[in-house]
Amino acid sequence: MNKQVVVGCGYVGTRVARHYRDQGEAVTGIVRSDAGVARLEQLGIKGLHCDLAAEDLGDLGLAGARIFHLAPPPGSGVQDPHTRHLVELFERFGHPLRVVYISTTGVYGDCAGAWIDETHPVAPVAARSQRRLDAEETLRRWSAASGRDLVILRVAGIYGPDRLPLERIRAGTPMVRPQDAPYTNRIHVDDLVTACIAAMERAPSGGLYNACDGHPSTMTDYFLDVAAAAGLPSPPLIGLEEASDRLSEGMLSYLSESRRLRNDRLREELGVDLRYPSLAEGLRGLF
Ligand SMILES: NC(=O)c1ccc[n+]([C@@H]2O[C@H](COP(=O)([O-])OP(=O)(O)OC[C@H]3O[C@@H](n4cnc5c(N)ncnc54)[C@H](OP(=O)(O)O)[C@@H]3O)[C@@H](O)[C@H]2O)c1
Repeated sequence: MNKQVVVGCGYVGTRVARHYRDQGEAVTGIVRSDAGVARLEQLGIKGLHCDLAAEDLGDLGLAGARIFHLAPPPGSGVQDPHTRHLVELFERFGHPLRVVYISTTGVYGDCAGAWIDETHPVAPVAARSQRRLDAEETLRRWSAASGRDLVILRVAGIYGPDRLPLERIRAGTPMVRPQDAPYTNRIHVDDLVTACIAAMERAPSGGLYNACDGHPSTMTDYFLDVAAAAGLPSPPLIGLEEASDRLSEGMLSYLSESRRLRNDRLREELGVDLRYPSLAEGLRGLF
């Protein structure tokens, strides 16, 4: 029987783990907190407490397993030591059969609004995206050296139940005017879970897929659409100059990158049938 391990078993990972639990397959979720272990155990999922930031980790039983790696890198720097520590564990205690890694579309950097697919060169700008590329490269080196399978999903902005910017909208935080807003891409969490499982079950090793709904829109349209669907007032709209004073550093960093992602490979090669091919459909399902 297959043994699945979800490293970083949070919002997305728990849904992946529930799928394997429901199939009657062995699945363990690795989390950083005791509260995370308790949450998993309540769902009938075996939880394991481990902080990948630690240098000297013990045997987590990953040899021969099928691993979903969803644990984020640390909050600073341009490398991902967490993924490096994970690979050190593989080398010390035995390699997994396959790793499905959840990366981000941020690795493409700013594309000035162009439509791009997986053949587009990577050029991460933000440090958070450089850390993701470092993780991808660490895992590629591991896969080449060990001969074990690696599949990478480059994931767009995740939304779903309890994952919408409602607090921000309720607080009346402004957004930039539509003409100043960059293009962004999204995926509904249910479709991301489907993509993760497809990547594990049937992707060729070395597979690389954009995991997004294929209908990018501007960041401002996203906030306006969510507000309308939730019956909340639209956020006030401001110019870019004012935005640099009033918006958070994180939001300004997102606003400085614009790209429109194609998902043909996910749908046609991996055969993922998206339940929510656009935000409009996703929001209809949520409200
Ligand atoms: N939000 C987006 O739009 C977006 C887009 C692209 C990619 N991603 C990435 O997709 C992945 C999954 O997202 P998500 O929403 O499911 O994240 P999440 O809900 O924050 O879950 C992250 C999980 O990782 C665990 N974790 C965090 N740091 C860890 C560490 N140092 N060692 C071990 N476990 C650790 C957490 O443990 P606890 O449960 O104990 O806290 C949690 O279970 C994340 O890597 C995220 O950065 C997100």
